[in-house]
Amino acid sequence: MSRKAHEKLAHREKTVERRDKMLIHDFSSERATLEEVFDQSTLMVIYNFLNKGILDEIYGVVNAGKEARVYWSKNKEGKELAVKIYLTSSAEFLKGMRKYIEGDKRFKSVKRDTRSLIFAWAQKEYRNLQQATKARVPVPKPIAVEKNVLVMEFIGKNGVSAPSLREQAINNPEKAYTQLLVSLKRLYREAELVHGDLSEYNIMLWKGKPVIFDLSQAVPVSHPMASFLLRRDLTNLNRFFSRLGVNVIPVEEAFKQVAC
Ligand SMILES: Nc1ncnc2c1ncn2[C@@H]1O[C@H](COP(=O)(O)OP(=O)(O)O)[C@@H](O)[C@H]1O
Ligand SMILES: [Mg+2]
Repeated sequence: MSRKAHEKLAHREKTVERRDKMLIHDFSSERATLEEVFDQSTLMVIYNFLNKGILDEIYGVVNAGKEARVYWSKNKEGKELAVKIYLTSSAEFLKGMRKYIEGDKRFKSVKRDTRSLIFAWAQKEYRNLQQATKARVPVPKPIAVEKNVLVMEFIGKNGVSAPSLREQAINNPEKAYTQLLVSLKRLYREAELVHGDLSEYNIMLWKGKPVIFDLSQAVPVSHPMASFLLRRDLTNLNRFFSRLGVNVIPVEEAFKQVAC
């Protein structure tokens, strides 16, 4: 056999080996567990991500919320990822979602059926994370989104999420408060977004710094509820930090600092 033919054969063997590995991966016992949890469409999205190499492995659930589940995953390079999957759609959740999507110019042409709304919701969180990342606001970096599945950077280590402000005492609350106000300012002025559900539950403490997450409901500053939501976010932030003894900036003043 010529050298070239030999190389070709070796390459083919490698390709087959790779494909077998993928198949083993896709159709192994993991599939059984995944199948119990996800509908066909969600499974297809996950396999698509596995085939594209965006994901290499999916491990356990990090968090099973009411509307979304977050899974710990890794890519081929071993980088840890979080996969957020929107699953359920209670009437209450849909009603809530509509309010945020309707005033959002980026999602003008979204249909009103349940599936379209949920897909728009995942898309919205992805776009919000993109805009925030671009504005240098510390958030999980978005990696991919398709239908109801969002892949982002994992904040934490070895499958353990970084603690939220709620869970972990802060060494220097004054500094964290100031950093958060800077983040909100960048979010408003550069990303042109308002978080809309900011509280100690949606801020993690990672490597000593606050990381804002859960941006699905965040709205553009042009949204009719933007000012109301920003005041509410600032009120929540002040309530939390004043309890820790921080001399917080009054809401109206903070509002001006952030938005004007
Ligand atoms: N990027 C991430 N990295 C690590 N853990 C995450 C990440 N995103 C979410 N989590 C974990 O999942 C939980 C729920 O995520 P969140 O986005 O707040 O969803 P929900 O809409 O259910 O509140 C978080 O409190 C956190 O523990
Ligand atoms: Mg949350």
